[in-house]
Amino acid sequence: MIRTLVADLHSHVGETVSIAGWAQTLRLQRAVQFVLVRDHTGVVQITHRRDGSPLEASLDGLTVESAVRVTGRVVANPVVTLGGIELIPDQVTVESHAEAPLPIDANTGPEGRLDWRFLDVRRRPAARLVFEVQTTVEQAMRAFAYSHGCTEMHTPKLMGTASESGAEVFEVGYFGRRAYLAQSPQFYKQAAIAAGVDRVFEVGPVFRAEPSYTARHATEFTGVDVELAWIDGVEDVMDFEERMLAHVLAEVAAVHGAAIKEHFGVDVVVPEVPFPRISMAEALQIAGAGARSGSGESPRDDLDPAGERAVAAWIRERTGHEFAFVTGYPASVRPFYHLRPAGQPELTASFDLLWRGLEITTGAQREHRYDVLVAQAAEQGLSPEPMRDYLNNFRYGCPPHGGFGLGLGRLLMTLLGLDSIRDATFLFRGPNRLTP
Ligand code: 4AD
Ligand code: MG
Repeated sequence: MIRTLVADLHSHVGETVSIAGWAQTLRLQRAVQFVLVRDHTGVVQITHRRDGSPLEASLDGLTVESAVRVTGRVVANPVVTLGGIELIPDQVTVESHAEAPLPIDANTGPEGRLDWRFLDVRRRPAARLVFEVQTTVEQAMRAFAYSHGCTEMHTPKLMGTASESGAEVFEVGYFGRRAYLAQSPQFYKQAAIAAGVDRVFEVGPVFRAEPSYTARHATEFTGVDVELAWIDGVEDVMDFEERMLAHVLAEVAAVHGAAIKEHFGVDVVVPEVPFPRISMAEALQIAGAGARSGSGESPRDDLDPAGERAVAAWIRERTGHEFAFVTGYPASVRPFYHLRPAGQPELTASFDLLWRGLEITTGAQREHRYDVLVAQAAEQGLSPEPMRDYLNNFRYGCPPHGGFGLGLGRLLMTLLGLDSIRDATFLFRGPNRLTP
């Protein structure tokens, strides 16, 4: 028999249907057996009056979270609190018996929930909503990128030399030599620009061997990367990103706004464009002594997380906007490949995007002139040899270009007001977590 989803039962009153899901709650009383069955769309009450039948015995043998199919008649009953509907069963098939007791319950802490993540996600509609929202976010990003001339690329995650700095990189054995896991598609999306791909879009895994234990760091996360050729300046990149995010949030609000409000208590606000911009020099003044102490995670001329929150609060107070582009980062805190504006060698044409005070993106115009690029690498003590293949991209005519990298987990975490990136990730990876 065709499976009917629980959410659709109300349109089958009086019919015999078959549902499939998990036995969520068992209330096996003296005269009547009540079983609540949950699928991914809702919960329905199964009501069986005891009659000494094999069906009665099989309901008595059920355990919580067993995977079952139930065939029965849909009956409207206003007394039933779950949508005024119940299913009077003819047949119950236990497809897979759940062991009892379950290893987690409502009081299990965050690490225990991660240990049993499949049960955690299965039992909490809010946890599953995260991935439905993620799906809409990615679909909207793709739709925007495609309609703005992007080609979706898939760049290697195994590399012969470490990308970017060489720090924070995982080494893996590779047929008797060493390989590295990509900590960014940065160099390869630029290779695609050199290959004549006009606008590059990529969604893929990013690996960071960072011993960070914060709520916003993972060792493996999903990155959304964009790279645009023939730009006039970094402003073109920010313009692309803010319009992309406005589109994404409009889609999320339309598809999931009500569910997000119900499960997370958050209103999805579609941001106005342009987003506010603030220079790093001004941001540092706003952030004040805390950010410039040099303690914590960042050097003197960068913002630490507390500084980022202070800047975001300042912008929000003045503009009401939750997003803020911080621009004009000093060259000392940026990678060698960021372009430096003409006549301002101490600065970079780069930005971070903060959302509610959390960095969700770093972007920049890239240095596309070979000689300048090599000189900037040397200035940061990097030798050209290990980067030969990267540098070759700039030797035979490379257009001016720039782009950004956005952390999908951080976006979701901020969007839904989650406490940790762990809750925005299906199976989190961190320094202390490589399982399940
Ligand atoms: O700021 P990041 O390190 O920048 C780059 O990788 C550049 N290649 C991007 C570019 O095009 N210039 O990483 C980009 C974004 C961050 O803003 C953040 O949202 C996310 O990736 N991110 C992390 N997310 C989770 N866990 C971590 N350890 C992250 N590190 C960065
Ligand atoms: Mg960054």
